Amino acid sequence: MRRAYIAGNWKMNHTPSEAKKFASELKRALEENKIDCRVMVAPSFVDLPYVIEVLKDTEITVSAQNMANHTSGAYTGEVSPIMLKDIGVYTTILGHSERRMYYSETDEIINSKVRLALNEKMEVILCIGETLEERESGKLKEVLKRQIEKGLEGVKSDEMKAITLAYEPVWAIGTGKTASPEDADEAQGYARSVVESLYSKDIAENLIIQYGGSVKASNVKALMAKENVDGALVGGASLTIDQFLPIITFNK
Ligand code: PGA
Repeated sequence: MRRAYIAGNWKMNHTPSEAKKFASELKRALEENKIDCRVMVAPSFVDLPYVIEVLKDTEITVSAQNMANHTSGAYTGEVSPIMLKDIGVYTTILGHSERRMYYSETDEIINSKVRLALNEKMEVILCIGETLEERESGKLKEVLKRQIEKGLEGVKSDEMKAITLAYEPVWAIGTGKTASPEDADEAQGYARSVVESLYSKDIAENLIIQYGGSVKASNVKALMAKENVDGALVGGASLTIDQFLPIITFNK
């Protein structure tokens, strides 16, 4: 049985003071509403210590949006997993399409981050997903297979429990266009079958696969009703309580 996992990726939004205020609102909302799913928020690096402080006695997971592929050294501008752990952050998103697109992160770079995070006993949300061009040219499966195989290269079976996949079709991110629940289910079912072929049926069946790309209150229920959609990675609609609360209480 896979427990629903809803994550809010704040991207480069919310200053530390805004983040603190929003985290307090979120804490209050969760105290007032019974929530069955696992909830995560991923603030920016500078927001993390403040958000950790506000949410420390809650069940909300606080995650980084990215991390370096080294633990320390001459890597100007980077944040290492040991720095994250030192402030109480044990989860990170990796391979987000914005990192792939704007910061030229290749599957190899992403894989080195995945392996380092796992070595450091951190949890990872590994993002995968095709561009519109790739989808329209019939390359959906090829792209997902490559991103999963390369992203998880060297990851051992017993480390797979620390991995969540997020299927985020690039054309649906921040565009208001959502994959239909059927399209999401099909792509995510395929992603699960790739994991099964790399590992085992058991590992594939226990793997949480989130859908991401314009998830909002009005579409979350239909998406989550699908067999292979176990959660959501939410960008824009995770930035305010008005929009995020109905998403994390989708099954009420
Ligand atoms: P969006 O972003 O919900 O704003 O489309 C999702 C994501 O990029 O994680």
